[in-house]
Amino acid sequence: MATRVIGNIGELTTNDPTLGDESPLGRLFNAAMVVDDEQVLWVGDGDAAPDADESFDAGGCAVTPGFVDSHTHLVFAGERSDEFEARMAGVHYDGGGIARTVAATRSATTEALERGTRKRASELLAGGVTTIEIKSGYELTVEGEVRELTIAQEFSDEVTWLGAHVVPAEFRGDREGYLSLLTSSMLEACAPLARWADVFCDRGAFSVDEARHVLTAARAKGLAPRLHANQLAHSGAIALAVELDCASVDHCTYVEDSDIDLLSASATVATLLPGAEFSTRSRYPSARRLLDAGVTLALATDCNPGSSYVTSMAFVIALAVREMMMSVDEALWASTKGGALALRRDDVGHLGVGARADYVVLDAPRAAHLAYRPGGVVVASTHRARR
Ligand code: NIG
Ligand code: FE
Repeated sequence: MATRVIGNIGELTTNDPTLGDESPLGRLFNAAMVVDDEQVLWVGDGDAAPDADESFDAGGCAVTPGFVDSHTHLVFAGERSDEFEARMAGVHYDGGGIARTVAATRSATTEALERGTRKRASELLAGGVTTIEIKSGYELTVEGEVRELTIAQEFSDEVTWLGAHVVPAEFRGDREGYLSLLTSSMLEACAPLARWADVFCDRGAFSVDEARHVLTAARAKGLAPRLHANQLAHSGAIALAVELDCASVDHCTYVEDSDIDLLSASATVATLLPGAEFSTRSRYPSARRLLDAGVTLALATDCNPGSSYVTSMAFVIALAVREMMMSVDEALWASTKGGALALRRDDVGHLGVGARADYVVLDAPRAAHLAYRPGGVVVASTHRARR
């Protein structure tokens, strides 16, 4: 396998605290990195770089690990810009529009769904995302959820069954009926196609007890749990995520001190999705309270047509810095290593020796430009290891 040395890296963020400045960012200056098609082979001082088959001069630019976008809903049809406009004029987001996307997705052809998913996955990749989690949840029938998961599998190994997104219209008078479909034939059909199960546990969606029921059934079928929690209101959803040892609990817009205590003593990552607060004009989660209490944070796009039609992790980083008082380094770490922990992966999200050779070359001398030049094209190239 051919080896490649990337030399003349002005600032290399490895997220390996044994390297460079020994901070969590494991940062080196005037550095070099050697990779093959699959993994990182060597990282160190630019002057000490070993020979390789090919070489690339980074021209003094910054290099970071590829972003890990640990929360997306990429498989959908249609769009809801009218809801976005209404919100900007003062209407509150309550998730009610999910039903419109369900209707649009059910009536789309598989080719059209694939095409839309590919377009959004390519936008994410161009913006530096090398690992994407993709959820189902916009068909809410056995065949439809299978179709969404099958499409998601074309783009990622991190596929999540979100049959419990909302109760679909045809079950509106029969929640029990939908819960029983979820935990019987739908789960049976979907479990082989996914790694994770998720539930939208919030006001207007599913209760804590319903979420526990679905995730426990899913776990018995081999799916690992994660949870949408406290986007719209306080509830016991974060406690449930910790109780079930979810890899991640996502949104966390409303958190109590007791939630923070539970999270900081757990292995559950809190994944913040500031694109959703931006696009719904809602209050942002208290990233500082969480960080200061020692909670592990991830940042993700939540790309979906309702609450966050965002395909740029750089934009998410800029929001985290500007609106949630995270430092650039905290936001960069949460978008890479934090995302990897939210997926319980140790092979991505960092550039230590042996990591997957997933990295981003910036058109900038420092990674801070990701937040400093919002809306600009800061990612020059994305490199994704062979899978
Ligand atoms: O994560 N909150 C639940 N699901 C999505 C939004 C879905 C939609 O509005 O279409 C989210 O924000
Ligand atoms: Fe979501």
